[in-house]
Amino acid sequence: MVMRSMLCFTKLVAQALNVVNCAKKGTLVLEHKDERDLGLHLLQFAEVVEEACTNLLPNVVCDYLYNLSEIFSKFYSNPECKVIGSDKETSRLLLCEATAMVMRKCFNLLGITPIYKI
Ligand SMILES: *[C@@H]1O[C@H](CO)[C@@H](O)[C@H](O)[C@H]1NC(C)=O
Repeated sequence: MVMRSMLCFTKLVAQALNVVNCAKKGTLVLEHKDERDLGLHLLQFAEVVEEACTNLLPNVVCDYLYNLSEIFSKFYSNPECKVIGSDKETSRLLLCEATAMVMRKCFNLLGITPIYKI
């Protein structure tokens, strides 16, 4: 049991770090408060996975995902953070892509198959 948890832990932390590193490939400019809030929340992903694994509390991932959805909605619905056609389009698209990757990872960790369209 302990061995299995350790394996799960190591694998998940590696995956979490991978997601965060991918998001770092492009240049992210986080000038607006809503962009910063989202960026900072994304960076907490590895820590959240670590906490969930160490304490065997998968609900932490649910909490994190719920918060991420709210923070992303706030960013995306803010006219000041327009994505397509803005001069910060590349950076903001990267932020959207990183959010999608982290959300997908959270769903996978929780054993839920995400749908891509409603
Ligand atoms: C989610 O947001 C609440 C309220 O802001 C905060 O107290 C909690 O720590 C957050 N949880 C995670 C896992 O981000």
